[in-house]
Amino acid sequence: MIRHVVEVELGDRSYPIYIGDYILQGFVEKFREKLGVAKAAIITNPTVWDIYGNQVVKSLSAERVDYDLIIVPDGENAKSLNVAERVYGELIQKGFERKDAVIALGGGVVGDLAGFVASTYERGIAYIQIPTTLLAQVDSSVGGKVAVNHTLGKNMIGTFYQPSFVYIDVATLKTLSDRDFAGGMAEVIKYAFIKGEPLLSIIQGRRDDISARQMDILAEIATICCLIKGGIVEEDERDTGLRAVLNYGHTLGHAIESISEYKYSHGEAVAVGMVFAAKLSKRIGMVGADVVELHKRIIGSYGLPTTMISASIDKIIQVIERDKKRAMGGHVFVVLDGVGNPVIRNIDREDLISALGEFSKEG
Ligand SMILES: NC(=O)c1ccc[n+]([C@@H]2O[C@H](COP(=O)([O-])OP(=O)(O)OC[C@H]3O[C@@H](n4cnc5c(N)ncnc54)[C@H](O)[C@@H]3O)[C@@H](O)[C@H]2O)c1
Repeated sequence: MIRHVVEVELGDRSYPIYIGDYILQGFVEKFREKLGVAKAAIITNPTVWDIYGNQVVKSLSAERVDYDLIIVPDGENAKSLNVAERVYGELIQKGFERKDAVIALGGGVVGDLAGFVASTYERGIAYIQIPTTLLAQVDSSVGGKVAVNHTLGKNMIGTFYQPSFVYIDVATLKTLSDRDFAGGMAEVIKYAFIKGEPLLSIIQGRRDDISARQMDILAEIATICCLIKGGIVEEDERDTGLRAVLNYGHTLGHAIESISEYKYSHGEAVAVGMVFAAKLSKRIGMVGADVVELHKRIIGSYGLPTTMISASIDKIIQVIERDKKRAMGGHVFVVLDGVGNPVIRNIDREDLISALGEFSKEG
């Protein structure tokens, strides 16, 4: 059943996020309601389609929705202009028009790619997000940032393009690998540190239920995270200010992903990045050692890494400097002025080198 509906209020780009468990087949009802008789292009990957294809086909057929299936490869490499080009070709060949719609069924990779294609195909056709990973349910499917990667940088080619609705079935998380589940938890933990309660208590007090993937607690977490992200996006849809706080742990995180050649997943890299951000916050006198310890304890309790990868400081700095988050002669980091109070700080180069050196030595 649908347990919660979160509304993202963005004027004529407003949309609902439906959250529940074992609701996958019900998405077609919402599709009809919002998109009428549009023909649907389902963009997904083989892994997700093998598990959920039958249910999706059944419900589309029952409601007589005309659809085509576009399968893209599994993995981050699908977020490329090459794959997007192939998808555009299939849409053209299958006769998709502006009145039709794209359904993104999968994790953040499928969602980012499908959203990007939808935003550019015929100057924009509607799309809906059916996120099936924890990361996508609590983060990437909400907010309308859609992109593909360039060989010179992640998410370098993208747009802001809001979905018509987001449909979250937390029961799909039952089939997710432990590693991907933990990766999604890194983003949940991020929300807990930038917003504080009630999430902070929930992720500590109900760790076992969360790790056992109990439906009620997963639906509650998804709802809280969507409320937090939706609220921030409402204030800063195009990422010119407040939205940057969602990058907590991401400045170093992105560098770690890149340096490890993606052996560290996004979530694992962000986990390490958050410990570092907490240490930076302590270094500039905004939090005490207890907050750093709290980071390590919570992050470690979900099986995520808390220590620095072995890489030269020069290399890390180089990658951070290449990242688009650099500004004004310093390095932009989200730090905490106390738990629940993220602030943006420009950290100067020497300080950063010294902080990274210290973090690396801890091993
Ligand atoms: N747009 C945004 O605001 C935003 C925010 C954060 C991250 N992202 C992007 O999200 C991407 C990462 O997303 P992700 O972590 O979901 O990775 P992903 O999409 O690669 O999914 C991880 C793995 O889980 C599989 N999978 C998906 N759903 C499953 C299910 N229910 N059961 C079993 N397996 C399933 C996928 O096939 C894949 O192998 C990155 O590209 C990142 O840049 C975007």
